[in-house]
Amino acid sequence: MDSNELRTRYLAFFEERGHTVVPSSSLVPAKDPTLLFANSGMVPFKDVFTGAEQKPYTRATSAQKCVRAGGKHNDLEEVGPSTRHHVFFEMLGNFSFGDYFKREAIAYAWDFSTRVLGLDPSRLWPTVNHVDDEAYDLWREVAGVPEDRLTRLGDEDNFWQMADVGPCGYNSEIFYDRGERYGCGKADCRPGCDCDRFWEYWNLVFMEFFQDENGVRTPLPKTNVDTGLGFERTLAILQGAESNYETDLFEPIIARIQALTGHSDEQRKREYIAYRVIADHSRAISFLIADGVLPGNEGRSYVLRRIVRRAIRYGRRLGLDGPFLSDTTAAVIEKMGGHYTELVERRQVIVDTVRREEEHFARTLSRVGWPSWTS
Ligand code: GLY
Repeated sequence: MDSNELRTRYLAFFEERGHTVVPSSSLVPAKDPTLLFANSGMVPFKDVFTGAEQKPYTRATSAQKCVRAGGKHNDLEEVGPSTRHHVFFEMLGNFSFGDYFKREAIAYAWDFSTRVLGLDPSRLWPTVNHVDDEAYDLWREVAGVPEDRLTRLGDEDNFWQMADVGPCGYNSEIFYDRGERYGCGKADCRPGCDCDRFWEYWNLVFMEFFQDENGVRTPLPKTNVDTGLGFERTLAILQGAESNYETDLFEPIIARIQALTGHSDEQRKREYIAYRVIADHSRAISFLIADGVLPGNEGRSYVLRRIVRRAIRYGRRLGLDGPFLSDTTAAVIEKMGGHYTELVERRQVIVDTVRREEEHFARTLSRVGWPSWTS
């Protein structure tokens, strides 16, 4: 299954089950100064969960553009060494606003995973919050998961909040067992372990509280569901890839970098960290500029500037001494512009902006050298 098919089949599955397909919102959250970027699929629905906004539907599904840099969820420094973290990624989600709750959320996720994606049920390891007996029992009853494959974890893993203030709730995650050869070999290796054996690919959040500035949680007017399926990770699982970067989604961008460097396949493999950083950041840069963010010295603009400069720094490691981001962002536009047409509409702005920013940074570098933060 390639990336376009995964996105299409997910949305169709939930549409067939009464969900309204909602297009991704901008990466810049509307009317929400508390949040730098949309960092998950639920962001456009935040006010619907709290009851402040009504929608004509109680079930929705989306493929949402997300950026995790510079805020509560910040994966910037993970990108490169990590096989599966990104600054920019897509989150596939299904949402219930006071409609279904834990039982259906679990049943849908299990059905989609095993029947549509064809994942082997014996490789699926759900986790639940250690106090959430209801979810534990439902995994047994609805999905028939044996007890030795269910893990109870604490709030640091199985409680989800978008930001310090906002809707939140216990969550239940599904991990895919990639096999012992990816593992750390410890006897107690299971979901929650940091090694590369168990990959969390789907997070089911049972949104039922509002957390205020003082950390006090009160029940929301209704119980809700917010799920986030990691698009790139799921694709890697389906395509049997070693990392997210060896999927059809990244391959053309990585190939473009290789064409620019003139590397052999072996050199490309050896320099995988720099390749990943440039590929990931080229996606983030393209989508952020398409959504109206320009590099600058404050807030969102500053985060974008840091992403651009981190990409340039890793480009230098590969010997890319001149401007190269207009090439790599062009590869992003070609790969993703079919679904995200804003990339095509704003192609010239993206190319011009990265070119200007690269020239500006080259001038700064020749004056003052590399700033300390460009790790
Ligand atoms: N909102 C659920 C997640 O980001 O995992």
